[in-house]
Amino acid sequence: MPCYNTQMPSSIWKLQDNILENDDKELLIRFIQSTDRFTQFEKVKLFEKEWCGWQKCRYSTFVNSGSSADLVMLDAVKEYYGIPDGAEVLVPAVTWTTNITSVVQTRLVPVFVDINLTDLSFDYDKLQKAVTSKTRIILVTHLIGVPADIALLKEFAEHNKLIILEDCCESHGATFKGTKVGNFGVAGTFSFYWGHHLTTVEGGMICTENEELNDLFMLKRSHGLARELAPSKHQKYKDMYPGVDFNFLFLTHGYNFRNTELHAVLGVEQLKHLDRYIDTRNRNYREFLKVINPISDKLHVVMREGMSSFCLPFVFKTRNDKDRLHNALVEAGIEHRPIIGGNLLRQPCFERYGNFRDFPSAEIVHLNGFYIGNNQFVDGARMQILAGLITDIF
Ligand SMILES: Cc1ncc(COP(=O)(O)O)c(C=O)c1O
Repeated sequence: MPCYNTQMPSSIWKLQDNILENDDKELLIRFIQSTDRFTQFEKVKLFEKEWCGWQKCRYSTFVNSGSSADLVMLDAVKEYYGIPDGAEVLVPAVTWTTNITSVVQTRLVPVFVDINLTDLSFDYDKLQKAVTSKTRIILVTHLIGVPADIALLKEFAEHNKLIILEDCCESHGATFKGTKVGNFGVAGTFSFYWGHHLTTVEGGMICTENEELNDLFMLKRSHGLARELAPSKHQKYKDMYPGVDFNFLFLTHGYNFRNTELHAVLGVEQLKHLDRYIDTRNRNYREFLKVINPISDKLHVVMREGMSSFCLPFVFKTRNDKDRLHNALVEAGIEHRPIIGGNLLRQPCFERYGNFRDFPSAEIVHLNGFYIGNNQFVDGARMQILAGLITDIF
């Protein structure tokens, strides 16, 4: 195990420490003192451009959260492809709740599919049975930094003529065969909330290769206003709608999901650190795998090549083992959370979409799973605490 700082108080292991570095804060102060323009403007454009460079995609639209990114993506894709109300979207039984509510809010129908316990994406063998004549989209989540098996999903989607959308909100920098996730479907989303690999405090991004789709993302982000489009496109709409003042010309139904210059300034600065943060998270994950190795027979070990670790997950085979470690962590003051929404079919807002008992792997995650924090502050001292707890208990 590498040699790290051992001065850390052993009773505290938060999900996320103070991820904003002094550089970030100082930059923010300097920016505030230097500008009078705080609403979406050039810093937002700069962050989008730099994110495109890092993510290796053509277009990126910065919004105020990952949830907004999911909603705009679903709404725009539905409009662009003329997908009718009531069409079905395949979704995993374990993901973040607003990923699914974006389906419901756009008057589409989520069809839940159980997950697998290795990469926590779909149970690939159960996907085909979930397809009906109404299925149009598969909404993939790359959960907790683990890339889903894109090769299988692409083959499945092509066979069934489905649109792939990717939620990468927890998986910045995860790759499948060397390509970053978020580049395999029609569009992909990211969250920059506090606990994520890169944070703008609150924020999200929608990425695509399709210019027309990106135009819809930009319109919907900002009320549907035509002036959000590139200036080169303005004249066309002025000519088309001479009876409406171009300043307030609404081309589509929109929201106000814009983000601010302040958040974009943070994003540009954080992006400089992102590869380092991801390396540290992945190094921690490798150490974590060593720490849990002695009890690997008790666990479903979550792992896939190309991952960009979001957290340190435990998925036990029995409830009893989970409770033992869970209780010890609580006593030691180590923060923990369920694995995202757990079995979503147990959540009151999704009960009507199926019986939670029909999703046995999601049940295992729900009943026997939890995670603790991983970030650039997790070090060998914490890993030693964890290893000690595991040795004591098992
Ligand atoms: C998989 C997934 N999708 C979407 C979101 C929503 O992101 P946000 O919290 O920025 O709204 C999250 C949040 O963590 C998430 O984990």
